[in-house]
Amino acid sequence: MTDPRAPENLVDLSRYPLNDPGCAMFGDIVRSARNSLAETGSVSFPGFLTPDAVDLMAAEAEALSPLAYEGPRAATPYFFNYDLARTDDPDHPVNRRNRRALSQVAYDLIPPESALYQLYHWDPLPGFLARILEHDRLYRTEDPYQALNISVMREGGCQQWHYDRSSFVTTLLVQEAETGGDFEYVPGLREDTDEHYDAVRAVLDGDRTRVRRLELEPGALNLFKGHYALHRVTETGGARKRLQTIFGYSPEPGVTGSLKSSIMHYGPRVGVRAGLDPADIRALVD
Ligand SMILES: [Fe+2]
Repeated sequence: MTDPRAPENLVDLSRYPLNDPGCAMFGDIVRSARNSLAETGSVSFPGFLTPDAVDLMAAEAEALSPLAYEGPRAATPYFFNYDLARTDDPDHPVNRRNRRALSQVAYDLIPPESALYQLYHWDPLPGFLARILEHDRLYRTEDPYQALNISVMREGGCQQWHYDRSSFVTTLLVQEAETGGDFEYVPGLREDTDEHYDAVRAVLDGDRTRVRRLELEPGALNLFKGHYALHRVTETGGARKRLQTIFGYSPEPGVTGSLKSSIMHYGPRVGVRAGLDPADIRALVD
């Protein structure tokens, strides 16, 4: 009997022959994906999952969704980042905290026998992404909480305008909300040498001139360069949850995330396990 959770049965290999990287079709897909990434910083693969796989993975994500932890309820575009401008100006983008209503199931709570986990651990997937991104190979990140996540948005969920820390992110939408939950982005807003704060402020104030919207359907894989493109998810409506998986791959081996970030996004249990003082943990999650 065929195993419905085996990655070869989840991915539509007739459309995306990830198991045959030498074939002409694979090469054509890679070339066109590189063009799209160069133009917009994003590339989508609609129908990446078979319809049966979408149903299976949505059911798995739904069953795991009660384990999702609701992270920070407001955040700036830069989260608690880094060595950016320090200023008391409340209108400056580094101080603009916007509403965030998003829960995440951490990697350590996703069962190894699940289709979600099996697909993340299937080597042809990072192999395919590495070819597109022109890396020799990609590694699964080694963070016990961040490597693979399910992002859960209930009614009224949203994600504020922000940049990602990592250079690219790979997501797979498995279930749409009834309304809203649209992914919007502004390609190429940030440069290594210039944060372009005025342009960021304009987007936060509602300027739509450079905003693009991705039409993602359940089963679509997306590769997105979120370090340079400001992006958000618009507010969701209806009882059906928006469920998306996030795959952590990196060109460098042994990558882990920060403990502080994991406590904020996956809850106090992460700090308890790391042996932190309860007062320090409370300071991060309250
Ligand atoms: Fe992001």
